[in-house]
Amino acid sequence: MRSNTAVEERPLGRTGLRVSSLGFGCGNVGGLLVRGTRAERERAVARAIELGITYFDTAPSYGDGLSEQHLGEALRAVGADAVVGTKVSLRDGGDVERSLDASLERLGRDEVDLFQLHDPVGPETLERVLPALERMRAAGRTRFVGITGLGDTDALHAIVESGAVDTVQAFFNLLNPSAGYPVPAGSVEQDFRELVPRAHDHGVGVIVVRALAGGALSGEPDRHPVAAPAVDPIASGPSYGDDLLRAQALRPLVEEGFAGSLVEAALRFPLASEGVSTVLLGYSSLEQLEAAADAVAKGPLPPEALQLAEREQRLAGGGHAEG
Ligand SMILES: NC(=O)c1ccc[n+]([C@@H]2O[C@H](COP(=O)([O-])OP(=O)(O)OC[C@H]3O[C@@H](n4cnc5c(N)ncnc54)[C@H](OP(=O)(O)O)[C@@H]3O)[C@@H](O)[C@H]2O)c1
Repeated sequence: MRSNTAVEERPLGRTGLRVSSLGFGCGNVGGLLVRGTRAERERAVARAIELGITYFDTAPSYGDGLSEQHLGEALRAVGADAVVGTKVSLRDGGDVERSLDASLERLGRDEVDLFQLHDPVGPETLERVLPALERMRAAGRTRFVGITGLGDTDALHAIVESGAVDTVQAFFNLLNPSAGYPVPAGSVEQDFRELVPRAHDHGVGVIVVRALAGGALSGEPDRHPVAAPAVDPIASGPSYGDDLLRAQALRPLVEEGFAGSLVEAALRFPLASEGVSTVLLGYSSLEQLEAAADAVAKGPLPPEALQLAEREQRLAGGGHAEG
């Protein structure tokens, strides 16, 4: 059934922008903006706008430029004015300015709203890499700058506390809740040590990525034909199969009536954290978009559901700590 509920908006840190609490991930995993037909892409973007989704996330590496190109085409076709973020990777000797120029060309825009580092950060990122992103802002090619919340945890905290970035893309989900909550030592792939509340304290907008652990938190092993056929976990578990198994431990959230499905629980989980501005989801179909909008319209998971998730996760070998 088509939902008529508009997705709520939240502030994007100190930027002054407000973004929808559900975002549109144009990445390779969901794949709709990379491998969907032109008609499917435009319908999905039009419907997303109608549902109140205002943030679209892309990157040069998604479909080797196709995601940016398709997103630009679809937004023009729909005539929509959305908040658009893209990224840069310097891993293979990339150049910040050349990369952004090529992104703007593919998107068909003079500037983006958000320009983010796509690479994991290290101790050198703050002084050696981020000034180049800042120069793009000074040149009027991006309104705001951000990072991907991966890499050295100390460096991540130092960057969000430094004032050098406006946003961070946080890996924060039911399988690795450490970006939002304290967790027992050794219980997660990477302990992000509550990066989300720290970012919030410093006015840095939090964009949650991998809320469904690439699809594993649906609990279903089958992938949509448009989706990437195989997904490498990021900061969730050692393998996709392992993530799928651990997702089963969260079924009591559905059985005890806190959510209509695991997907709904996984999307409403990060929304319970005040610092979260938007939860990006990668879509493979229009139906997945509709289901996600219906799920977030139910609001954040209540505290009793968070406690239940914590208990079940601990039994499954992960999860939050007391307190
Ligand atoms: N900065 C970074 O390094 C970084 C890294 C990762 C992601 N991101 C961004 O975050 C976005 C989201 O991440 P992601 O796509 O990697 O992972 P994700 O959102 O956790 O998972 C996407 C997968 O979830 C499943 N799904 C989505 N909606 C569903 C629904 N309603 N019901 C059931 N299953 C559903 C689909 O799998 P099936 O088709 O198999 O059902 C889809 O392929 C990306 O598009 C990208 O913009 C950024």
